[in-house]
Amino acid sequence: MEKIRLALLSGGVSSEREVSLNSGKQVFNALDKDKYDITQYDPKFDLKQLVIDSDKIDAALIILHGPFGEDGTVQGLLDLLDIPYQGAGVLGSAMAMNKLVAKRLYEGARVPTPSYLSFSMHEKIEPAEIVEVLDLPVVVKPACAGSSVGMTIVKTAKDLEDAIKLGFAHDDCIIIEKYIKGIELTCGVLGNETLEALPVIEIIPGEGHEFFDYTAKYVAGETHEICPARIDEATTKKVQQLAVKAHQALFLKGYSRTDLILSNTDVWVLETNTIPGMTATSLFPQSAQVAGYSFTQLLDQLIQLAIKEHSKQKLRRAT
Ligand SMILES: Nc1ncnc2c1ncn2[C@@H]1O[C@H](COP(=O)(O)OP(=O)(O)O)[C@@H](O)[C@H]1O
Ligand SMILES: [Mg+2]
Repeated sequence: MEKIRLALLSGGVSSEREVSLNSGKQVFNALDKDKYDITQYDPKFDLKQLVIDSDKIDAALIILHGPFGEDGTVQGLLDLLDIPYQGAGVLGSAMAMNKLVAKRLYEGARVPTPSYLSFSMHEKIEPAEIVEVLDLPVVVKPACAGSSVGMTIVKTAKDLEDAIKLGFAHDDCIIIEKYIKGIELTCGVLGNETLEALPVIEIIPGEGHEFFDYTAKYVAGETHEICPARIDEATTKKVQQLAVKAHQALFLKGYSRTDLILSNTDVWVLETNTIPGMTATSLFPQSAQVAGYSFTQLLDQLIQLAIKEHSKQKLRRAT
């Protein structure tokens, strides 16, 4: 069988560049070299080369996080070049990247998400009003960012101003969300027409982390993860159903990973990641492992789903 000529994209220009380079390395190591002829591209330097090589590329794996990678821009370029790639297309990537757009779509699809207010840079913000509507604590986050960058949990009204400033340092739009105390969960889904929800993971940020912040996410040993999560069967089903619903509400494809919080018996959806972390020990690969896919098999599956979806779309365009 001829090898699939695969473009592996990692690096990029977002604040998650280092995370992406690390994932890219591990993905490269895990890919089956008998199946794939791999060329690596770092969009920070190699976009022109990617365009030049496009006729010789059968599929791409986008291992990029944040703006100019996870937000539909690279997906659009690959669409124009007629190269299949894993996961969400332009529309889904762009919508999921923006937490405000995502929350509006969740609401439309009856996916429970914490109450919130949103503000753009030049709007007048009245802290007293925020406290009155949402109560404290609240979480201030930039609409478009990831890895907990620019995010603050605010417990007292006097801290709101600094948190808002920090949020706006990362985006022109912020959301201020009701803080939900509970157990953090994350749930992956995988598939094209038929979506398989993966086992739910419970996330326990280590001591010294108020929440699942940047260090808790990326420094080994800072966070404890349990898969399957220690929740009953009915709650597991509910979480998995919400992960599938969130995936569909945002028009995603191939795979995604939804972050949730379980508070008593209520489950709240925080956000959906269209290119979840992809080191061998990242959350999505971990739960795929529990479901029976090795990291190598998971990558095979993502590439196959990408190629199938691409052929289907091509056929549709031709008829
Ligand atoms: N409304 C909320 N209530 C409680 N904790 C939250 C809330 N929003 C965010 N967090 C905490 O911040 C982390 C990151 O938030 P999230 O919305 O998943 O953004 P991202 O992972 O893209 O930075 C979560 O995993 C959780 O620990
Ligand atoms: Mg998250």
